[in-house]
Amino acid sequence: MKIAIYPGSFDPVTLGHLDVIERAASLFDRLIVVVMHNQTKTPMFTLEERQDFLRRITSHLDNVEIDAFSGLLADYADKRGACTIVKGLRAVSDFEYEFQMALANRKLNPDLDTAFLMTSAKYMYLSSSIVKDIAAHGGSISGFVSPQIEDEVLKRMRKED
Ligand code: COA
Repeated sequence: MKIAIYPGSFDPVTLGHLDVIERAASLFDRLIVVVMHNQTKTPMFTLEERQDFLRRITSHLDNVEIDAFSGLLADYADKRGACTIVKGLRAVSDFEYEFQMALANRKLNPDLDTAFLMTSAKYMYLSSSIVKDIAAHGGSISGFVSPQIEDEVLKRMRKED
């Protein structure tokens, strides 16, 4: 059984992330999407909210599981018996940082490889920060996040004002 992990902050999950999840789910027997902590970021949405958004938009994918973890990704992969980390590459600018993380993760867990999937061209520019910025300024996030969570994300952002 080939198990892969797709880690990220998912603050919030976008259609670009969903695109990567759907591609990865078709390549592996099981895909674990894990909400993790990036120590350079302060999340807007709680861990529970981020997992709930992910669960709702992936309910059509039988082999996808949603989880959260607060330690090292390499340790989590070991714990879950995963052999591959999946990451989405949007542009060349993502490459250097992703390359560094992939090598560090392999050093920490030599059995662990990172597979990069190209995000669809239509989502190349997308990021969670862009979604939050548009929502915070009263813009429409339709086409950026899944319709199942669009209202919830907007409502939650308005509460922050
Ligand atoms: N579509 C849309 N947006 C995408 C995307 C895609 N396919 N792929 C990435 N992005 C966006 C993300 O939304 C994020 O946007 P933001 O900066 O506005 O929040 C940005 O690109 C960066 O994404 P990513 O590279 O996945 O970083 P992340 O912060 O979401 O996740 C962790 C990084 C959590 C995976 C990493 O910090 C980690 O592994 N932490 C655990 C601790 C650890 O093991 N550290 C050692 C690592 S070597």
